[in-house]
Amino acid sequence: SEDGYDLWLRYRLMDTDSINRYSPYIRDIHISLSFTFVMRAAASELQRGLSGMMGSDIPQIQEPVSNGTIVIGTPTTSSVIRQLSLPLDSLGNEGYLIRQVSADDITFIVIAGNTEQGGLYGVFQFLKEVQMRKSLENVNISSTPKVKLRLLNHWDNLDGTVERGYAGNTLWDWWKLPDIVSPRYTDYSRAMASVGINGIVVNNVNAKPDILKAMWISKVAALSDVFRQYGIQTYLSVRFSTPYELKETKTADPLDSDVIAWWSAKVQKIYTTIPNFGGFLVKASSEGQPGPADYGRSHAEGANMLANAVRPYGGVVMWRAFVYSQDDPEDRAKQAYTEFKALDGQFAENVILQVKNGPIDFQPREPFHPLFGGMPNTPVSIEVQITKEYLGFATHLAYLGPMWEEVLTSDTFIKGSGSTVSRVIDGSLFQHSLTAIAGVSNVGNDRDWTGSHFNQANLYAYGRLAWDPYASSRSIAEDWLRLTFSTDTSFVSKAADIMMMSREAVANYMTPLGLHHLMATGHHYGPGPWVDNLSRPEWNPAYYHNADGNGIGFDRTQTGSNAISQYAPEVSAVFADVNVVDERYLLWFHHLSWDYTLKSGNSLWDSIVQAYDDGVASAKEMSDMWQTLLIYVDPERFQNVEADLRIQIREAKWWRDACIAYFQSVSNKPLPAGADPPE
Ligand code: GCU
Repeated sequence: SEDGYDLWLRYRLMDTDSINRYSPYIRDIHISLSFTFVMRAAASELQRGLSGMMGSDIPQIQEPVSNGTIVIGTPTTSSVIRQLSLPLDSLGNEGYLIRQVSADDITFIVIAGNTEQGGLYGVFQFLKEVQMRKSLENVNISSTPKVKLRLLNHWDNLDGTVERGYAGNTLWDWWKLPDIVSPRYTDYSRAMASVGINGIVVNNVNAKPDILKAMWISKVAALSDVFRQYGIQTYLSVRFSTPYELKETKTADPLDSDVIAWWSAKVQKIYTTIPNFGGFLVKASSEGQPGPADYGRSHAEGANMLANAVRPYGGVVMWRAFVYSQDDPEDRAKQAYTEFKALDGQFAENVILQVKNGPIDFQPREPFHPLFGGMPNTPVSIEVQITKEYLGFATHLAYLGPMWEEVLTSDTFIKGSGSTVSRVIDGSLFQHSLTAIAGVSNVGNDRDWTGSHFNQANLYAYGRLAWDPYASSRSIAEDWLRLTFSTDTSFVSKAADIMMMSREAVANYMTPLGLHHLMATGHHYGPGPWVDNLSRPEWNPAYYHNADGNGIGFDRTQTGSNAISQYAPEVSAVFADVNVVDERYLLWFHHLSWDYTLKSGNSLWDSIVQAYDDGVASAKEMSDMWQTLLIYVDPERFQNVEADLRIQIREAKWWRDACIAYFQSVSNKPLPAGADPPE
């Protein structure tokens, strides 16, 4: 059945014409006995994929190559590749080359990398070429990832739940691990490697001390043994106070010698059990989590202590910059920058500062975080949220590629025009070789992995952007559609149109014109702009929208919190000027009267109502567009998407009606002529 289990790795039988077209290029697979596990996994993936699509076994062979042989491997493991002297130098450790070559009157395709990992990525790309029915004649493709550590962060708890997870419970069957290793972990690893993910953080950033107990480490080790077959390293989230809470030290002060010794010994243990361990992810002194601040120490002192412990093994520490504190009366959007900017240059060389894409929290639209460009002497990575905590959970169709592209292409102007966020992330702007990108996973144990078919696109797009942060979100969407649904050009173009409009639709029906953080308390599903009685002021939507009889919005200019001063002058000048700022960010930076006139000539009040209506209209349009695609999609997946879109229309109206009703109770303005009446 078409339940989505195969993700984009669908190796379905091709039609006869296609089989005939490909058969001269795809006869057998040349392997070498000196392959280790990664290249062996690559060979079996290739055999599985090609045999599935060609409808006959494409065997692995060791005999001399002939016409139609596919040669895979590295110069060290494959004598054929060694003799071809291919231009592999520029590919680095993880790049690949796919090329048709002719030697001794024989024509064949070679898939090569300098390392087995590169070869594996090449194999997945080759399979995609065939899945997308691309021509193999004179094929010549090479690619190298622009970011070194491409990580998926699971927010999976040890009790089996997933924080902000909407695709069932955790994939990790903790009770049965380490003895019983589900084959699903292999399918998961295949999918991750197929989009270039090379690191998995297995547990929630709100970490429990127990994860560092021997029993849990052995469970993680069993997962890790599967991951490493696919070139994936394993990472753990750790709670800063772990040794103290396990009652093995008297404090968790990062400068205490017992604490330092405890972490070193623990790390040594981990590396003995998990040889491909990558390091730690840490949420410290943030949202009630313990951290160095509890001992009067800085984030740098805390991070460096852990970094020293993993450094002998080549490990890294990813220290999160998501901090804000209730004792601090400063605008929450400013706090991370204020706290970390002063520490630039103080972090150990194997620390990466992990910064959320925007300064608040994964909202449907935020301006880029001022720490991008703000920490020239520190490797800074971007953390995006693949799971849709604020964009409709499992069901709403919201393709996040355009959102991430918007952030990555934002120009920080820190070193003049062209200092984009992607250039911070890939290390080119400040010449950092340690680079990373993190996505908060949307994977769970649902049959379709991600809670809906279209959520798979977000996982796929994340991997593609991690590999190449300069890639276009539309072309990624089109590739995903070809791999997942159909290569028909008219299907691909219409379905990509739906995807490309979807995030803007959500931003409009939830938080248009720069509004943010209007969601209901706790679960964050649905609207709650009226909430203003929570214990922490910065948890209240009212803190952000500041709506009253006169107007609405958060003044972050000089007359307000002056958060704009954290950006380069070229950027802050744009954000500061109501006439120049992109109106999609208007109320993020400005508090304006309901009667303020926008570029369209309409008043702010009328424009807010209009934007909410537009959001609902877009949801309806997406559903109508999907109906026209009936003939291209199997009934099972078609109906699943159809049902999701019905939910989305209903809930878009819910958001619109609730927000407008609330804001109207404050503004006392009539609905503009032509506005959709609430339902
Ligand atoms: C959000 C989210 C929390 C999460 C936090 C984080 O606030 O709602 O569940 O723990 O981000 O990123 O640490």
